Amino acid sequence: MTSPFSSYMEWAKTRSGARFNLASSGLEAFPLAELGPIEPVEINGPSQYGYAPLQERLAKKAGVDPDRVVHATGTSMANFLALAAVAEAGDEVLVEEPTYSLLTDAARWLRLEIRRFARRAEDGFRVDPREVERALTKRTRLVVLTNLNNPTSAFVGGETLRAVGTMARGVGARVLVDEVYLESLAVLGRPYVSAAHLGPEFLVTSSLTKAYGLSGLRCGWVIADPDLARRMWRLNDLFGVVPAHPAERLSVIALDRLDRPAARARRILEANTATANAFLASRPELDCAPLDGGMIAFPRLRTGDVEALCDRLRQDEATVVPGRFFGAPQHFRLAIGCAPETLAGGLERLGRALDAAGR
Ligand SMILES: Cc1ncc(COP(=O)(O)O)c(C=O)c1O
Repeated sequence: MTSPFSSYMEWAKTRSGARFNLASSGLEAFPLAELGPIEPVEINGPSQYGYAPLQERLAKKAGVDPDRVVHATGTSMANFLALAAVAEAGDEVLVEEPTYSLLTDAARWLRLEIRRFARRAEDGFRVDPREVERALTKRTRLVVLTNLNNPTSAFVGGETLRAVGTMARGVGARVLVDEVYLESLAVLGRPYVSAAHLGPEFLVTSSLTKAYGLSGLRCGWVIADPDLARRMWRLNDLFGVVPAHPAERLSVIALDRLDRPAARARRILEANTATANAFLASRPELDCAPLDGGMIAFPRLRTGDVEALCDRLRQDEATVVPGRFFGAPQHFRLAIGCAPETLAGGLERLGRALDAAGR
């Protein structure tokens, strides 16, 4: 019997750590001290179906009314609540491929029937609405995609999202868009459209984890229509009931001062994008579009064994994520949110591992 748990998350927690970690997809951790002076935060407080000051900040950030916001423990819990609120055991969900495997793992745990639509390498991993149309059935309850895509960072624009929304609405389905990496476009000052503004069929999930280096706050959220949002709050009563209140307080402070982690993220991502793109362009063994606003790349090793490459790299104190976790064993995922010196050291080692594999 296959494991009901996430093999990727177990790997990420136990095997991805290294001196030159190019596996972890978030930005280098942001230190509390850099948020500026902070009064001690209260341990207990008025949090029932949301802590009002945090609801207000999240709503303002997303540009929606607070009754559309469900604060959740990271994008992870946000995704789980979204799946569980929309679909029931036996319902069909249509999930992009490749994707972040926790989305399909969670759907499997909920006993949902999973269909896939392809985001093709030869098409730049973009969402092709025709692929969605082909795979959609009358039984589809939810279409699921990531924007930017994990693992490829491919961007989905407003026109494509609207086309997918129209098709989903046609069969009475909704569309879940995990936008946790879209925040990297926000910190880089690049244009994007959040699916939260495209119609009631859309649910959006995100968090402060990836682009801001604030993973420890576990400040995630879902944006949905108010009825569905209420359903998710009620569902959350079955899980953590309420979040840790000090984390809610610190999240309010972080959201009020988000320009600080955002400025740091921008500096790191701009420097690291240039470094990573120069490296990728210099290695004929790898096939990969240049990074353009994202925090992760998904190179294909043209010939040779990716697992052996990853093992060799690990022996040299560096890690990347093997493509098997995304159903693409000839690829690996390379993250660039780390400190610039970590990226430089990791890429130097990756270069050495590629040289050794070619001999
Ligand atoms: C697409 C995607 N969604 C959600 C998550 C989990 O994010 P969080 O730390 O906010 O729970 C990840 C983490 O890698 C991710 O890649």
